[in-house]
Amino acid sequence: MSVTTRREENTGYVEIDNPPVNAVDTSVRRGLLDAVRWAEAERLERVIVSGKGGMFAAGADAREFDGEPIEPHLPDVLNAIENSIVPWVAAIQGVALGGGAEIALACRMRIMASSARIGFPEVTLGVIPGAGGTQRLPRLVGLATALDIITSGKPLSASTALDTGLVHAVDDEPTDAAFMIKSEELGCVVPVRDLPAPVIDQATIATVRERVRTKSPGQVAPLRAIDVIETGLNLAFIESLVVERQAFMELRTSDQAKALRHVFFTERGAKLPVSIASDTVSLAHVAVVGGGTMGSGIAYALLNASLQVTVLEHDAAGVERARKNVASIIAASLARGLIDEPAAAERRARFIATTDYSRVADATLAIEAAFESLAVKRDVFAELENALPKEAILSSNTSYLDLNEIASVVADPSRVVGLHFFAPAHIMKLLEIVRGEHTSDTALATGFLLAKQLRKVPVVVGVCDGFVGNRILARYREAADTVLMDGSTPWEIDEAMVEFGYAMGPYAAQDLSGLDIAHANRRRQDATRDPKRRYIPIADRMIELGKLGRKSGAGWYRYPGGGGRVDDPIVADLALEEAHFAGIERVDYTADEIRERLLLAMINEATFILQEGVAKSASDIDLVTVLGYGFPRWRGGLMHYADTLGAPWIVKQLERLAVEDPVAWTISPLLQRCAETGSSITESFAQR
Ligand code: 3HC
Repeated sequence: MSVTTRREENTGYVEIDNPPVNAVDTSVRRGLLDAVRWAEAERLERVIVSGKGGMFAAGADAREFDGEPIEPHLPDVLNAIENSIVPWVAAIQGVALGGGAEIALACRMRIMASSARIGFPEVTLGVIPGAGGTQRLPRLVGLATALDIITSGKPLSASTALDTGLVHAVDDEPTDAAFMIKSEELGCVVPVRDLPAPVIDQATIATVRERVRTKSPGQVAPLRAIDVIETGLNLAFIESLVVERQAFMELRTSDQAKALRHVFFTERGAKLPVSIASDTVSLAHVAVVGGGTMGSGIAYALLNASLQVTVLEHDAAGVERARKNVASIIAASLARGLIDEPAAAERRARFIATTDYSRVADATLAIEAAFESLAVKRDVFAELENALPKEAILSSNTSYLDLNEIASVVADPSRVVGLHFFAPAHIMKLLEIVRGEHTSDTALATGFLLAKQLRKVPVVVGVCDGFVGNRILARYREAADTVLMDGSTPWEIDEAMVEFGYAMGPYAAQDLSGLDIAHANRRRQDATRDPKRRYIPIADRMIELGKLGRKSGAGWYRYPGGGGRVDDPIVADLALEEAHFAGIERVDYTADEIRERLLLAMINEATFILQEGVAKSASDIDLVTVLGYGFPRWRGGLMHYADTLGAPWIVKQLERLAVEDPVAWTISPLLQRCAETGSSITESFAQR
């Protein structure tokens, strides 16, 4: 039974019971409709609807969106609740999201526990509220607030929901509070559908539309939500629901909604593979080596997860820097209202920075985030081996270096695993867990446990230069530099990728992270680089000119006065000059050609990564590219996107490019096989 009913005197208690999140599927819709009829037949005085397991309802069951809609449809069920002669009251605990929030809006009153959240995250799944949300919410909270809630998809806390008028009261026993409402009071509350529609303020709508275009470029659903709200508010309520439903049904099966569902469910599926034993060390005290930008971000992420953290540095200046870095992240979190002062104080109390390795004698995990040098890392691991208990897990945050070589300095290399965080480490959701040649199941499972505690999405990767993400990034940059050399500018390339959906292009991104990191990598790779591979020297010239990115005031762009970026003609000249030296006749690339080259380069590299077993599934690559590298989420990740192009088309284009440069555009045999068999890349590499 997905919905249970019980009568106590004149009150009916209706409970949604569909674990784990009370998603509103066909059985819940049927159960709620039956409950409406039951309450009327029983001539109840009120119905209190809640969710079992401390969770009201997480919204429509998104797994049903691929199939044909099945009756009863949610809008009809909610109309039945709202029109019933028995008034319903929503008692909200946990979350009321999407269709769950819409159930609450169809009720006469809403009481919410203080820790609960309510919201309309539909746009994050590529759809809009499809059961009255776009029409009831503005009637309840006003046009501007409703536009904000629906287009952002962000849930509201109980106190904010109360302030906006979305709920009537906040009470930690919402069911009891709903019971205590006086019948006369309940009888006087006007159903939301009968509240006057707010006046349509064109200026507000235009502002929100502009904000959405800037914040969510390329995304269809938030703009469609605005259209539906605007159109619907000009119509009779019942007609507005028809407009809403039509838009919802169209979007449900759109490419963007499919892509966003794919990422949503893939994120949730990122769990420890069943083939791996799940024993872990228990985590209480974690050592972090290095308190630079990365190490302090990792330290703060650990503090947020209630762990005790010791940052190890090699001298007093390093200790001071680590303290300052962590203190400034705590201060920034305080300033943004993410934590309050007691929470900040509690985090400070769990943190120390020291040069004394004996302070981590009881730590069960170490995360090395020292300078990216094999020699430095090997020294650190030798010290960690002496300092930590012998069963402790030793991990490295290296972005490129060979984990097996780092591990070989430790007597038992099975204790060593890679934990590759992304900057800022306390914010970015991705964690690449690198499995070395000898990494034990316990070390791997501990990586997954840590990811869970930090609320990050774990992806297991194998050892290779750059693992999954940075290896694809290196190929992306190589393709971009080649286009730059042969006929473009950094700003044209960046613009082409922003039009595709990236928040910023490869050159603006590199200016942020600094050109020196990629430079150090190129020097490291000098000895092993294929001499037949074309080398583009423009980035090296940038280093010679001291153009290291934002931190030096100029990189691929200039940042006059430390402000916004400005195109730099010197950089364009540099590309022309290098092309001239190399005897290249430059061509004029269109934005489409630029995009095609950069995306095909990444797709081809990713397929090699799959072929080599460095990534276990195409979906893992989707997670890495979306969560770590800014690939547009609404395109579903690199491999999901590749499947929308189709392997036969991809191979045809790669063959064309291989005529130009057969080394850089060597086609992955597995991609060729997908093209020959007409199979999808995602399905061909679905193993987890
Ligand atoms: N549909 C189907 N399955 C869902 C779901 C949904 N809306 N929401 C969560 N689940 C599943 C997850 O896939 C996961 O399944 P698994 O155990 O098999 O991996 C399980 O429920 C638990 O989910 P989480 O791991 O995410 O659990 P958390 O406790 O971390 O988070 C949550 C719970 C906050 C509810 C989070 O799952 C969430 O944000 N869910 C999506 C909410 C949403 O987007 N709702 C809108 C749906 S569209 C809609 O309602 C249209 C309507 O207007 C008509």
